[in-house]
Amino acid sequence: MKNRYNFDFSINRRLTHSYKWDVDCKTISLSIADTDFLVPKEISDAIKKRSDLGTYGYTYVPNEYYDAYIYWWKNRHNTLLKREWFTFSTSVVASIDVIIKRLSKENDGVSLFSPNYNVFYNCILNNHRVIKEVPLIYKEDYEIDFSLLEEALKESKIFILCNPHNPIGRRFSEEEIIRIIDLCKKYDVYLISDEIHADLDYNEERYVPLLKVSDHEKGITLLSPSKVFNVAGLHSSVVVSPNIELLNIIEKGLGEDDVGEPSYFSIEPVIEAFTNCEEYVNEENEYIKINREEVINFIKDNDLKIRVVGGRYTYLLWLDISFYSKDTQKFVDELKDKAKVVVGSGVIYHEYFSNFIRINIATQKVIIKEFLNRLNDYLKENY
Ligand SMILES: Cc1ncc(COP(=O)(O)O)c(C=O)c1O
Repeated sequence: MKNRYNFDFSINRRLTHSYKWDVDCKTISLSIADTDFLVPKEISDAIKKRSDLGTYGYTYVPNEYYDAYIYWWKNRHNTLLKREWFTFSTSVVASIDVIIKRLSKENDGVSLFSPNYNVFYNCILNNHRVIKEVPLIYKEDYEIDFSLLEEALKESKIFILCNPHNPIGRRFSEEEIIRIIDLCKKYDVYLISDEIHADLDYNEERYVPLLKVSDHEKGITLLSPSKVFNVAGLHSSVVVSPNIELLNIIEKGLGEDDVGEPSYFSIEPVIEAFTNCEEYVNEENEYIKINREEVINFIKDNDLKIRVVGGRYTYLLWLDISFYSKDTQKFVDELKDKAKVVVGSGVIYHEYFSNFIRINIATQKVIIKEFLNRLNDYLKENY
């Protein structure tokens, strides 16, 4: 069947103030976690319609916004959410910051798996809380060491779960999530589940939403359309918790920090996304899956000594480059200098990960091919 969306279509994002594409014209970028894909027409039409009104005053969140999330999670993830469990937030990171501030005190422990999305560490440190790291165990894939998790939770007020996980690109299984919930209950720890990468699942088994399996009264889920629909710049997300008392505390905190109100363009496009754009997500996942296979096959065919870890969820690939370098920052800097390719350095996701780089494969096939050729040439010439 013919695809409806053309993910091969390339948009020139240079000179558009894009973080990812703020590079010279010879350089290609597989760094920051947004996609190089056109959003579905339903989303851009919703923005145009809103724009055509020609007046952009204060705006409120209508019920249809939350209903769109409820519809999507029921249909795609078989998870029942209720309208009264929701509150609006301008971004997932803003929610995490507010939650840390309002639900813990200075010098309290906040635990999380490592490696992990770098901004979580900043949120903990900027609020003068103490990071309690739970290293994931690196084998074929990454695994949880539940005894390490238990030790950390004993000294924590909050645990931040990232599921599916950035940067290792795996989801946590239902069994793992239930064990995490049980330990959080045992030590009376708030459990934040950041599910921003929820729908990037390459059409394999779906990720497991916390709210599908949890009755933890200290559970808080953070959802957003920004990764899968490429709308991070719209600044639109939600906090969801069946614990209304807890939700009220967070809502008050979001208001006090002035991150609980929508921008003019942040509502209608999201309603369109979660109501009418499932086909886009299916085709996008297919496309990313093929890109991942391209990377794996190229590495094999060219006998590169790079291991692709995980990566069936999210559009991020975590590559073990230890055969070539144990100083990822140097490797990444040289790759940019000599091969004109920008990728993420492993140490961003914590200092010990100097054997890894992170690449973002949500881009056109031609860019993936170009990246692989440049990487190959660079490795052959320098190692
Ligand atoms: C796991 C995770 N959470 C949150 C964010 C940022 O979300 P937001 O822009 O809504 O703050 C990212 C962005 O890469 C991410 O990977």
